[in-house]
This record gives sequence, structure tokens and C-alpha cells, in this order.
Amino acid sequence: MTSKPIPWHLLPETSELVDGRLHVGGVDLIGVAARFGTAVFVYDEHHLRSRCREAVAAFGDGVAYASKAFLCKAMAKIAYEEGMFIDVATGGELHVALAAGVPGDRLVFHGNNKSMVELELAVDSGVSRIVVDSFDEMDRIESIAAAGRSTPDVLIRINPGIEAHTHEYLQTGVPDSKFGFPLAAGVASEAIERARSSSAMTFVGVHAHIGSQVFDVASFGKAIEAVAPFVNASGAEEFSIGGGLGVAYVEGEVADTITSWADVIHSAAEQNQISARIVAEPGRSIVADAGVTLYTVGTIKDIPGVRTYLSVDGGISENPRPVLYGSGYEAFLPRAVDAERPLEARIVGKHCESGDIIVRDAYLPADTAIGDILCTPVTGAYGYSMSSNYNRVPRPAVVFVNNGETRLVLERETLEDMLSHDVG
Ligand code: LLP
Repeated sequence: MTSKPIPWHLLPETSELVDGRLHVGGVDLIGVAARFGTAVFVYDEHHLRSRCREAVAAFGDGVAYASKAFLCKAMAKIAYEEGMFIDVATGGELHVALAAGVPGDRLVFHGNNKSMVELELAVDSGVSRIVVDSFDEMDRIESIAAAGRSTPDVLIRINPGIEAHTHEYLQTGVPDSKFGFPLAAGVASEAIERARSSSAMTFVGVHAHIGSQVFDVASFGKAIEAVAPFVNASGAEEFSIGGGLGVAYVEGEVADTITSWADVIHSAAEQNQISARIVAEPGRSIVADAGVTLYTVGTIKDIPGVRTYLSVDGGISENPRPVLYGSGYEAFLPRAVDAERPLEARIVGKHCESGDIIVRDAYLPADTAIGDILCTPVTGAYGYSMSSNYNRVPRPAVVFVNNGETRLVLERETLEDMLSHDVG
């Protein structure tokens, strides 16, 4: 590891160094922490918009933002305003996108266990596509149509039995997933036949999502090669490759851009004579490095001969990724962005659990002290969206910064909120 300053490419697009301090969107991050408290998520709105625009330029009309990565009304509006569709995977995400004013016909509805209520809401709000995931779901769509409601356009989600980053699996993978209709044993073909012959839905195309945080974009090309014969035989007008483009989280990682990801996908589609329109659903690559989290350093515990633990005012409740996936992050002090980071420490949260680790092996400036504002970059995806109230810790606030302005988009939860559903 390193004692070098935080690598600049991990920071949001509009990051600037002003007197040694980090400004994003023309706003001093230390000031954001002072105004809104910590822990707080800060997103660079310009960065969010430019990733959405890049996705639309790269894939054209129909590309959807996978809102599970980060969703609130402000985010949904940005994706919509910049020309993206929005992929919603539950009734809850659908509700938020509709509440943001996104028209139903700009939404793509996913889910492996959609309820009647969710499907009725989707049909009634006129979603652009329902991505059908099971025969039971087809039964439900048919009963909704039989009740006189409208009939949706559908994509059939297939499970190609492919592990995106492992070439070996491309040839030998056995479908073992709760998602989609397996290509194996003709199940996916049967699903397409049923969708085509049903008067309750209109078959538009095929969907295949092959994984997330995929670094090697060549894997997408290989996956397309593997599913192309099926896609072509299905007569699909549209083929969605889902999401999955990896992003760089720590020093030494370099990720492809949305543009180069799309190039790989388009050339693989061309080589394999796929005539269907290609769409995609990027989530992480739209929001991950647009967002940072700010914390306050609360306790520094030096265990002689073992390590230094540095505790901050958050943890597993707003970033469960390290404990869930062993994910790595970097940390730095926004008051000293270009400082060397020789102090080795484990950054932990305030939860009653040893696994409550934010950065396992962090490097920080030597003078890091209690009260310092500490920043973990690349926390814009699957952080707030997977946050919880574990230990009854209220969720952080979320603010957007842009052109020198700071906008609160999600209020910090309060202690009263911890009782708001407690009717005991
Ligand atoms: N489309 C479908 C059908 C998906 O299931 C997903 C992600 C996406 C699009 C967006 O994929 P992305 O571009 O964000 O990789 N909680 C995990 C990630 C789970 C992803 C689930 N599906 C994490 O924190 O890494």
C-alpha cells in the first residue's frame, strides 16, 4: 500500500484543490460537514449529469439508470432530465420514480418476485417495459389483463448461465440463479413462446444481466457471443445487456468508461449479427464516483503492537459493502487532500460489531486528529441505497453540490424517526 495522497481519479469530476482543501461543485466539503453534520453523503451533480449524458450518447434512446444503485427523487429527476429511462426493481423504487415526476413510459420494471400489487401499479402507470422473470409472473400479468387493465410490453429475462468475468464459465456454467429463465433445457424459449402467444402482453425482446462490478469489459463481448444465437432466434426487437460495468474504488484500479463499455457491446453485437436494438442498465458507473461520504473522527485507539483503530460516526449502517463483499475503499482528509498519508489505521464505525469496518487498511495524514472530517470517496453507489437503521442509527443526510450551491435532497433521519413506526 501507499502513503501517497489520495489518487485524484477517485474523486468526483468537479473536484478542485483550494488552499489544500477539497472543493466539489464549487463547494468546500468541510463547510458541507459543518452545515449538515456527519455522516453525510455528498454528490457532484455535474458528475451525475455527465455520466447520464455519456450513457445516452453511448447507447442511445432506451438506456436506463439502474436506480437500485442510488435513488431519491432528485436522482430520478436528473436521470430523466438527461434522457435516461429508469430501471426500478420493486414497487418502492417505482413509487419513488413516479413521485419524482418521471412518466411511467420512461420506466423499466424488474424483479424476480413481483407481487400483484406491484404489477398492477406498473401496468396502471404505463411502464415502458416489464422485464418478466417467471411463469408465475406471466400468470399474474394475464390475470391483470383479464380484469380489463392494459397489456404491457415485455422483455423476457434470460439466465444465460454465464459468470461474466470467468471465461471458463462461459463454456461450462450451469444456471443456478433465482433470476430469469434459464437458457438450458429450453426454458427461456418456452417463456418467449408463451409471451408471444399471450394476448395479455407484447413480446418486445430479451434481457440478460451477467453480473456487477465487472472490470474486464471483454467479458460482455464473450457473453454476447454466447447468447447471440438465442437472441437472434427469438426475433427480439430489443436486447438489454443489463448493467455491470465496474468502477475503480481504490488506488491501482482503473475502470473502463461507459463509452468504451458500449463500444465493446456494440461491436460484439455486430460481430454476432444481432439485429435487435441494444440497450443497457448502468447503475454503479453512473453514481459511484460522483458520491463521497464525510465522517467525523471520534476516537483513535492505538493498540500497541497490533494496530490503530480510528472510529467515525457511521459504519455498517450507511456502508455495508465492506462487510458484505469485502469491498475496499480509500480515505483521506478533505482539509489536506494533497498530504502524504503515512498513518496506517483501520477505519471503523460505531456499531456493536467487530465486522463494522469501513476501510480495513487505511492511510491517513500523520496529524489526523479527533474532530477531523474524514472522507471516503466512491461511495455513491449501493451505500445509501443499502443503508439500514442497525443499532437504531439514523440514516445520514444526502446533499448535492453544483456550481457553488449546496442542495439538501434527503434529510438526515432523526431520533424521532427511530420511533415513527413503533406503535408498541
Ligand atoms: N440491471 C439489473 C437487472 C441488475 O440486477 C443490476 C444490478 C443492474 C442493472 C445494475 O448493475 P450495475 O451497473 O450497478 O453493476 N449491492 C451490490 C450490487 C448489486 C447489483 C445488483 N444488480 C454492490 O454493492 O456491489
